[in-house]
Amino acid sequence: MDIKYFDELRAFKIDTSNNSYIMAVVDDENFLGHVYYGPKLSDIPMYMLRINENPYVPSKNNRDRGSFMDTFPTELPGNGLGDYREGAVEIVDKDGHFAVCPTYKDYKIYEGKPELAGLPATFAGADADSKAMTLEITLEDKNVGLEFILRYSVFADSDAIIRSTEVVNVSDASVFIKKAMSFAMDMDAEDYELLTLHGSWARERQMDQRPIGYGKTSVGSVKGESSHQEHPFMALVQKGADQKQGRVYGFNFVYSGNFLAQVEKSQFDSVRVLMGINPTGFKWELKAGDKLQMPEVVSVYSDEGIGRMSRTFHDLYRNHLIRSPYKDKKRPILINNWEATYFQFDTDKLIAIAKEAQKAGIEMLVMDDGWFGHRDDDNSSLGDWYVNEDKLKGGLKYLVDEVNKIGLKFGIWFEPEMISPDSDLYRAHPDWAIAIPGRTPVRSRNQYVLDLSRQEVVDYVFDVVSKVLHSANIEYVKWDMNRQITDLGSYCLGKDNQGELFHRYVLAVYQLQERLIKEFPNLLLENCSGGGARFDPGMLYYGPQIWCSDDTDAIERLGIQEGTALVYPLSSMGAHVSDCPNHTVGRNTPFSTRGNVALAGTFGYELDITKIPQEDRDSIPGQVEMYHKYNPLVRTGDYYRIASYRENHYFDCYGVVSKDKSEALFTFVQVMGRPNYHSRIVRLDGLDPEKKYVVEGEDVSYTGETLMKAGLQIQNLWGDYQSKLIHLIEA
Ligand code: GLA
Repeated sequence: MDIKYFDELRAFKIDTSNNSYIMAVVDDENFLGHVYYGPKLSDIPMYMLRINENPYVPSKNNRDRGSFMDTFPTELPGNGLGDYREGAVEIVDKDGHFAVCPTYKDYKIYEGKPELAGLPATFAGADADSKAMTLEITLEDKNVGLEFILRYSVFADSDAIIRSTEVVNVSDASVFIKKAMSFAMDMDAEDYELLTLHGSWARERQMDQRPIGYGKTSVGSVKGESSHQEHPFMALVQKGADQKQGRVYGFNFVYSGNFLAQVEKSQFDSVRVLMGINPTGFKWELKAGDKLQMPEVVSVYSDEGIGRMSRTFHDLYRNHLIRSPYKDKKRPILINNWEATYFQFDTDKLIAIAKEAQKAGIEMLVMDDGWFGHRDDDNSSLGDWYVNEDKLKGGLKYLVDEVNKIGLKFGIWFEPEMISPDSDLYRAHPDWAIAIPGRTPVRSRNQYVLDLSRQEVVDYVFDVVSKVLHSANIEYVKWDMNRQITDLGSYCLGKDNQGELFHRYVLAVYQLQERLIKEFPNLLLENCSGGGARFDPGMLYYGPQIWCSDDTDAIERLGIQEGTALVYPLSSMGAHVSDCPNHTVGRNTPFSTRGNVALAGTFGYELDITKIPQEDRDSIPGQVEMYHKYNPLVRTGDYYRIASYRENHYFDCYGVVSKDKSEALFTFVQVMGRPNYHSRIVRLDGLDPEKKYVVEGEDVSYTGETLMKAGLQIQNLWGDYQSKLIHLIEA
C-alpha cells in the first residue's frame, strides 16, 4: 500500500499490493485526468492521457477546445462545457446556469481513513495489516464557487480502492446539486462486457452479462432502496474472462437508496464508468458554506478473473465494513415462525415451536410479523409497536422468559420505517406519512412510508423500538422494509427542498440503526426488505447479516446465493431451511439438500417444527451438528465458484477453502438427474497443489494438484435436487 505524488509529472499514484491507480494534472487549466487503473506498475504511463496527440490540451490548441473536452479521460467530469459524455456532476448555480467544470486545486496524503459523517463507510483496523492511507484531491470551479473533494483510500491488506466525493459550497449563495457521482472513470473500452445483478421479489441478484454497446448502459434504482430489481454493483469483465482468468473491474456502492451505475461507450471507444446516487428525484440545496458528502464506492480490480474479485470484496467487507460483535462469531441457529404460522400464532404456539426446536439443537426463536397492534394480516398496525396481548397472553416479557427458560434466545421482527393507514399512529399523525398534498398516495401492501426526513418521526421510531427491546431479553432484531417509496412529498421540506427527501430518508435509516446498535451493543441485527431488496454494503455496516430472499427453495437459492456471493461474504447471507412444497415455488426438494444449501449462509429454520414429517425433524440434529462443524470455515474461508447450474443446466458446485488451505468444504447439487449417465469429474479450486487431502467419509486422498487439475469424481446421484457435501481435510 502506498500513495505518492510525483511533482515533475504532477501525477498521483495509488498502489495496493497488486494494483495501481494513476491520475495526473495537465495543462495550465489544471484538468485532472485519469491515467491508468490495473495491475501494479512501476512507471507512470502519461501517454494514456493522449494529450501528446490531437486535439491537444487547450493551451496548445484552444481552437478545438470542445474536442479536447469531449475526449479527455476526466477524473470528475462536469457538465455543459464541451464534454458531451454524461457528467458526474450537475448543478444549478445562483444565476440558474448549469455549467460546471471541476479542475485541480490541491491535495493531501495522510494515514488512516476518515469516517463519512452519517454514512456507512469502510474503516481501517489498528494493526499494521489493516491500516489505511488516504489521498484527498480538491477540485474547484471558481465560477460557481464549488469545491469537490475526491477521497481515495487503500488498506494494507486489500486490493480494493475506496473512493468518494464531497461537495463544498465556497460561494456566498445557495447552489443546487442535482447530481454528484461518487465514482467516475474514463478508460479504453477494449473488449469489456458488463456484468450486473438483476432480479425481482423472490428472484434477487441473478447474474447478467452483456456486451457494452455504444451509448449508455445502466442499472439503477429510484425506489428509495437498493431494490430487488437492480443492484448497486457492476463489473467490467474482459470478454472470455471466467472465475479464474481475465481482467475484471468490480464496483459496489456503499449505499442503501437510489443509485445509478452506468457505462457509456463513446465515439472513440472509451468507456466512462459512473456510480453514485441516482440523479432522478435528487436536488440538494447546498447553502453557502455547506458540505455534502456522497457515499463511497468500492472498486476492485482483478486480473485473475471474477473469483479473485469476489474474494477481495468478501475480505474487505469482513475486515473493514462489518462492525457487529457477531462478525467473527457463529450466529445462533434460529427458527423463524413466518413460514410456520404467518400471522396466526399465539404464546402457546410459539412455546410449542421453541420446545421442539430446543430438542433439535436450535438456539433462538424469532417471532416474525403479527405480534403488535391488531395485525392479523398485512393490512394494519404498522407504527403501533405495542404487543397484541390477545395473541401474546401474559405479554412479551412472559413469552421471552418462557422461551429463555426452554433454553433458546429470543428475536423479534420490526418494520420501523412504515405506517399503516389503519393504525393509531396514522390516526394521530397523518402528516407523518410521505405524501403529496392533493394526490391520493400509492399504497403498497396497504401501507405508507414514514417521513423520516423529520427528526421527530425518527425519534418516535427509535423510542418505540427501543422501549420494546428494553422490555424483555431480546437478542436479535429482523429489521424489515416491505415497500418502495412513491409520492415523494414531505410536509416539512420547503418547495426547493423536496428533492432532498430520498437521500434524507436513507440518512435517517442509518441514523436509526446507528442509534440502535449503540443502545444495544450486543444485539444481532439482520436487515431485510421484502426478502433481499436492501442487500447492500450500506446495511452491512450496521448489521452483519441480511435476509437474502423470501424464496427459501433450495434450487432457487442456488442462483440467488451465487449472485449474492459474487460480491458479499457468505457470513452475511441469511439462509434458512423451510418446509415443502416450498411456499414460493411449490417445489419439493430433499430436506438434506435444503440443509446443505442453507449451510452456505447464516443458517436457520423457517418452518413449523411441530408439524413437519418426523423424518425431517429427525434430521435436524444432524444438520445442526454440521452447522457447528462447518460454520467457522464457511464464515472465514475463501469462496470458490466451481460450476453453475445457471450455465450448465444440470449441477451447481461451490466451495470454501480455509485461509491456510488445510481444510475445504465443497457443495455439489445435482439439480437434474440424467438417465444413462456416468459420474461427473469436477475440477476443484483454491487448494494447495502440494498438500494431500482426505475426502472425509470416503477412504481416499488426493493431492490438491490432482483435485484441481484432474478433478474429483462425483457419482451420479439418484433423482433431481440431490446434493452432497465434500469435506477435505489435509492428510
Ligand atoms: C417480508 C420478509 C419476510 C417476512 C414478512 C413479514 O416479506 O421478507 O421474511 O418477515 O415480510 O410480513
